[in-house]
Amino acid sequence: MEAEQTRLQDYFEEINDQELRGWLTYLHCQAELFSKRELEVLRQLGFGDNGGVVLDLGCGPGVFTRKLAEAVPGNKVLGADANPEFVNLFRKSLETSPVASIEVCEWLVGTAECPPLIAENQPSDVLARLVLQHVREPEEFLQMLKESFKPGTRLFIIEEDDGLYLNEPKFTGLERVLGIYQKWADEVGSTRQVGRNLPRLAAKVGLKLKSLDIICHTSTNLGLRNLLEYYRTSVADMPPDVYTAEEAADIAQSLADYADNYEKTAFVFYPQVFCVLEV
Ligand SMILES: C[S@@+](CC[C@H](N)C(=O)[O-])C[C@H]1O[C@@H](n2cnc3c(N)ncnc32)[C@H](O)[C@@H]1O
Repeated sequence: MEAEQTRLQDYFEEINDQELRGWLTYLHCQAELFSKRELEVLRQLGFGDNGGVVLDLGCGPGVFTRKLAEAVPGNKVLGADANPEFVNLFRKSLETSPVASIEVCEWLVGTAECPPLIAENQPSDVLARLVLQHVREPEEFLQMLKESFKPGTRLFIIEEDDGLYLNEPKFTGLERVLGIYQKWADEVGSTRQVGRNLPRLAAKVGLKLKSLDIICHTSTNLGLRNLLEYYRTSVADMPPDVYTAEEAADIAQSLADYADNYEKTAFVFYPQVFCVLEV
């Protein structure tokens, strides 16, 4: 099973502090901007309705998990992530700023067995937010989830798909950002088109497809500058072989110019695929 380990994981193991900080800034910015709507949609889809145990799988350092815990009071919230550095950061943050309902553990899904914390607590609802796009073998990942959870467990997947972006006037800065995402995905062996593949993946591993929605966060609702700042942070700390400092400055300038020119008139949205599967 070793070969199935995500190369993202290799990358994380080599991370230096500045890059780690970059990731944290990015994840924080992403959660701050989008989580309100995401949590509303998750609640509408029934996430956490059973008042038992829920799991945030691929929780990273827990920025979103903390918000999730607030949105589903009455649930114990488990967090699991493959990256030990993120798990440690999350644990440390819980020491300084505790949330009684949250417990965290390490789990490299697709390779390692389901850890006891999760196996013994059997969540009724599992969230994987922006995780599958980083996984090299999404089929193995979903297969392992199917084998780890009891029938009836619901998997809530929030994903992206680069084919869904739309913007007017034409926004070359975003196209360049998407180009960098793609370069990085090629490097770590993951896919940027995961959204459209969810029904096919579910069918392949025998998970029931319960619902599939596309949610759009718009520049009008979030503020164009906030949305562009998110795109800037999303690539700001990519490894230098993917993205040079010169390109970074150039793209930041192109995003700033777009905001100056089209603050009131742009039509830019950030699309997310919400998919609910059942074991
Ligand atoms: C973009 S981050 C998203 C973090 C968090 N879900 C959020 O929304 O803020 C992707 C996370 O998925 C984790 N991940 C990637 N592959 C994984 C795997 N096979 N098993 C568990 N976690 C994984 C990474 O370590 C990383 O923390």
